[in-house]
Amino acid sequence: MGKVRKLKLAVLISGGGSNLQAILDACNAPDYPAEVVLVFSNQLDAGGLDRGRRAGIRAEAISHKRYEGGREAYDAAVSALIEESGADLVVLAGYLRLVSDSFVTRWKDRLINIHPSLLPSFKGLGVHQAALDAGVKFAGCTVHYVVPEVDSGPIIAQAVVPVLPTDDAGKLAQRILKQEHKIYPQVIRWIADGRVSVDAKGIVTVANAKTLEMADINPVLEPG
Ligand code: GRF
Repeated sequence: MGKVRKLKLAVLISGGGSNLQAILDACNAPDYPAEVVLVFSNQLDAGGLDRGRRAGIRAEAISHKRYEGGREAYDAAVSALIEESGADLVVLAGYLRLVSDSFVTRWKDRLINIHPSLLPSFKGLGVHQAALDAGVKFAGCTVHYVVPEVDSGPIIAQAVVPVLPTDDAGKLAQRILKQEHKIYPQVIRWIADGRVSVDAKGIVTVANAKTLEMADINPVLEPG
């Protein structure tokens, strides 16, 4: 039997890379339809680089600080690395750097991000404290396609967690992060399986989506 081609991923990080690890762990399953071919960081000391290297994956870092030519030139260098890796999909996983419009255009429809809030609420940084300050009773995370406007773009999946009276920003972040680790590999699987489409209004449909696939993440959904 011929070997099925897996979707090749470039994962961009800035920090510890726990989402990267969740994706790497998913990729370890022989039937998972994607593989990581590049880990990239704008922070030279990002812990996630070692996670990639330990998995035998090329891991590169270019510091954005004092980079000649500014954001456009920096992003062109990042794009060149991604192209060289042969990646089909660019996965932003805690990449704490704004990407330029030309980067977004270059990777249009092949660039996804995870954000630790239920978008369109709470864009930007400091979202866990912002959710607590707003008094919301549920919080969560969102995987979306990237468009030039920050933390916007077609929503592919979300997971919900309760906000508890005893929460501080750290506790809420941990509870949300656990769900991030589930939905990001799930979304990548859907994309690799060719099941994700976006209509003209930016509404995402996952073909043959069974509610059950998300029911362990979102207990509010009835399996069916
Ligand atoms: C995650 O909460 C992600 O949603 C946000 O940055 C954090 C990265 O965590 N964009 P990690 O580096 O994957 O552990």
